[in-house]
Amino acid sequence: MTVAERLAAVERLLADPPVVHPMDPSGDPAMGVWSTEPDCYRFIARRCDDTTRTLETGAGLSTALFAAIGTHHTCVTPGRPEVERLQAYFDSRGIDGSRVAFDVAPSHVSLPRGSGELDLVLIDGGHGFPMPILDWFYAGERLRPGGVLIVDDLPLPAVRTLMAYVDRDDRWQPLERTEKWAAFERRSSGSLAEDWTQQPFYVVHPPGAKAFVHRVMNKARREARRVLGG
Ligand SMILES: C[S@@+](CC[C@H](N)C(=O)[O-])C[C@H]1O[C@@H](n2cnc3c(N)ncnc32)[C@H](O)[C@@H]1O
Repeated sequence: MTVAERLAAVERLLADPPVVHPMDPSGDPAMGVWSTEPDCYRFIARRCDDTTRTLETGAGLSTALFAAIGTHHTCVTPGRPEVERLQAYFDSRGIDGSRVAFDVAPSHVSLPRGSGELDLVLIDGGHGFPMPILDWFYAGERLRPGGVLIVDDLPLPAVRTLMAYVDRDDRWQPLERTEKWAAFERRSSGSLAEDWTQQPFYVVHPPGAKAFVHRVMNKARREARRVLGG
């Protein structure tokens, strides 16, 4: 598939998305698909081809895209019905799903038992604390140097906590970003386990320290105004 063909596949999926998720918690929910911004799918389509080794936490339109492109893909989701709906969608749309390996389990169970190098990881599974951080830790360590990490739903608290670290670490070079998702290139390899002494860039001022600095600065400003006469 050429890049143009992969981008055309994105537009086809956006126009006719798979129906995968219950959209509300009621007993009779409307069905739809939780998805990210179209530009994130276009980014994936530009970055991946049928040689790319990909993994995502969560399932949805992105899974159909990885299948349509033909990446060597692993999809981790605890939702068996989601998988069945996606497989029915592949069949009905003539998408070859044979390169998609579904691991039907929550990511904190699935990812620690995974192995093998990856080229691209999409983190969009469980969004409660600390799930995105666990996903980054276990799937991110399998990314080769130059591999791509995509994180969705940046405004959610647990994702913000992850970003508070990743944004400070220049071993994750920013590639593209919107308010909803961000992509990084990995500039390291192997395990992400390290001690805090190996992370001198990771400095988060405690709220008390910030307030203290503000108080001192305001006092200095008031004093300067008094001395200088307004
Ligand atoms: C926002 S949707 C994913 C949307 C998809 N990436 C897309 O672009 O269409 C979140 C997915 O995460 C799955 N999920 C929820 N908890 C999870 C967990 N603990 N581990 C892995 N996946 C989880 C949900 O079942 C759902 O499929």
